[in-house]
Parts: sequence; structure tokens; C-alpha cells
Amino acid sequence: MDVQSPQEETKKILVKKRKTMLNYSQITLRYIQENASFCFLCLKVTSLTLFLVYVAIPIFVRANQWILPKVVFLNLVRWPPFTNLSNPSEFGLNNTRHFNLHVEEGVKIGAWHILPKSMYIENVNIPWDKFENEMDNGKMIFLYLHGNSGTRGSHHRVQLYNLLAQLDFHVIAIDYRGYGDSSGEPTEDGVVADAYFTYKWIKDRVGESKVFIWGHSLGTGVTTKLAKKLCDEETLLVLFSPPPPPPPPGDHPAGIVLESPFNNIHEAALHHPLALPYRMLPWFEWVFVDGIGEHGIYFDSEENILSVTPHIMILHAKDDMVVPFHLGEKLYKKAKDTRSEISGNVEFISFEAHHGYGHKLIYKSPDLPTHIREFVAKSK
Ligand SMILES: *[C@@H]1O[C@H](CO)[C@@H](O)[C@H](O)[C@H]1NC(C)=O
Ligand SMILES: *[C@@H]1O[C@H](CO)[C@@H](O)[C@H](O)[C@H]1NC(C)=O
Repeated sequence: MDVQSPQEETKKILVKKRKTMLNYSQITLRYIQENASFCFLCLKVTSLTLFLVYVAIPIFVRANQWILPKVVFLNLVRWPPFTNLSNPSEFGLNNTRHFNLHVEEGVKIGAWHILPKSMYIENVNIPWDKFENEMDNGKMIFLYLHGNSGTRGSHHRVQLYNLLAQLDFHVIAIDYRGYGDSSGEPTEDGVVADAYFTYKWIKDRVGESKVFIWGHSLGTGVTTKLAKKLCDEETLLVLFSPPPPPPPPGDHPAGIVLESPFNNIHEAALHHPLALPYRMLPWFEWVFVDGIGEHGIYFDSEENILSVTPHIMILHAKDDMVVPFHLGEKLYKKAKDTRSEISGNVEFISFEAHHGYGHKLIYKSPDLPTHIREFVAKSK
């Protein structure tokens, strides 16, 4: 057994270490040599992606600002594909009638009428006229205004109609111009005109029954603007009639529900997940956001809600990644702080993130039916 001095031992360790390091660098070098084409490819893909994201796309978008309104409406993105909106049963909807409304020259929109549960008749073909003639049977009516992309047949929308029908309401759902089977091209005033026309069509048929408007996502912008228009009309009529002023005609909705809303489209665009890679850059707003307003799209709900007098219920999930929760809160605060004495309540219902409802799945909440029942009971 030979005894080694401590110096010798350290030396040995150092030599060993050097050998391993040499080994490692040899292995790395060999790997690069053997995989040179692969590494080169990685480098190429990375730089191409960076070029696309930070050079080509911004230059393209800045030069083609007309594209921004298309991104806001996304009406050409249709899911599920190859479905026929004339046949609501394809979407799992029973006791539903498909019909069209002629809003104006060149604009015909597709619509569905889903009957309340208590009118449900199994395996019976309900005659078409029964749908329209039964609208004044005392059951309340919801006009549903959907968000961007897809059609009135998109899954999460159909699930909500089913829920409302289960609660024994009529549901009228439309596709705005340019969506689904509707003709025309969407614009802010255009989609609001479609909703306005449908609302008046409903009002003409329901007698004393209460009508509510339910908007989701971009549809909350449409709902708020429509409600403002209806409330303003009523105010003008009272102001400009010869004395004594007539009682308000009661054409305003009984209440509005805003599901996953934003305060205005500008802020919604600033916080959209697609904007994430750009948000830190100084030219971000100039390239991606300013053009939305320049092309006439504002959906300024924060401003429009000041004129909305009926009851308002806002629903928002804390894990909403598309329209962040704090934008819904902003709209709520604005509405709450500016309510007049004659206005109904505004309530804000939040859903905890752990439920995973996100932007589209609030219909799954077991508490939702109770919120809706309480809301319609309070509205007038
Ligand atoms: C959709 O269904 C309706 C009624 O069943 C039918 O008249 C129409 O031709 C269908 N459209 C397409 C594109 O298949
Ligand atoms: C609609 O009717 C079909 C066939 O009668 C049935 O399978 C389906 O569950 C019904 N859907 C609803 C939502 O009631």
C-alpha cells in the first residue's frame, strides 16, 4: 500500500478534471460536426420566425390597415365547418325554428328561435306559425348577440341557448351581417343595425312580455350600443312631445346581461393575447391598434353604458385570457359610478379562476341559473 502525499492527490484530481473537460469539449465538437446541418436549420428557423414576427408582420399590417377590422370581427373564421344553419337539429337543438330577417337592401340575416322548455313537444313538428304566434305567451325572451368568429351554431353559444330554454325563456339568436348564412359585410353600425332590427321585430310580437338582451364578448359592445340607442330614443320622445309628455313607451329592454365584456375595443386590442409579443415595443399601438379606430370601430361601451337605464348584470371569469377580467371590472365601475336615480341596478358577478371557465365557458357554472333567475325577477 503506497501512501500519497496530499499534494500528489490534488495533482491527480486536477489531471482527472482536465481530462473530463477535454472529453466534454470533444463530445460537443463532435456533436456539432455530426449535426451541423441540424444546428444550422435551428438557427435558420429561429431567425426566420423572429423576422416574420418582428419585421414582416408589422410591416404588412402597417401597410394594410384595412385588415384590422377583419381581425376584430373574424367573421370568416367559421367553426364547426360544413354545417347547415338552416337545420338547427344538426346542432343538437330541438324545437328550434330557422328563419331570415331582411334588415335592409342587400342585408338578409339568419336567425333561430328556440322555444321555452314548457313548450317542448317531443318528436312533434311544431308548425312554423306557432313559433311566432306564441311569442306573447307570457314567457320572457332573450335576444342573444354573439362575439366574434364562428356562427350562432358555435358550441358554447348553443349550450347557453339550451340553458336559457331550460329556464323557460324564448331565445332569439342571430348571425350579424357577414357571419354564418347572413349576407353583407360587418361594420360597427351594421351589426348594431342588425341587432336593432331584430329587437324591434321581437317587440312587435311579444305584447307585454319582458325582453332581455344577452351579449357575449364582442357582442357586449353591440348590446351596450343597442341599449343606448333604445334608451336615447325613449328619452327624446318624452322631451320633444307636446305637453303633457306621454308616458315612456317602454321600448327599452327589461335588462341586459354582459358576459366577458370589455370597456372599449381599443383596450381590448391592447390586452389581446395575439398582441403579447409586441406589447413592449414602442411602435406597437401605431402598427396594431390605432388603425381599428381609424377604420370606424370603437365599441365604446364605457361611454355608451352611461345612457343605459335598465338593470345590468356583468359576468366575468378571473381566468379569462381573451378579454382580461380587469376590463370587465372597469366597465362595471364606470356603470356603477354614473347610474342615475331612475336607472336599475348594475351587478358584477365574478367566477374564480380554479373553475377554468375562461372566456367562453361561464355557461357551465352551476350557480348561473340562480343568478339569471334573480336577475330577471328584479328587472322591469
Ligand atoms: C341546408 O338545408 C336546407 C333545408 O334542409 C336546404 O334547403 C339547403 O339546400 C341546405 N343547404 C346546403 C348548402 O346544403
Ligand atoms: C333533441 O332530440 C333528440 C332526438 O329526439 C335527442 O336525442 C336530443 O337529446 C334532444 N336534445 C335536447 C337538447 O333536448
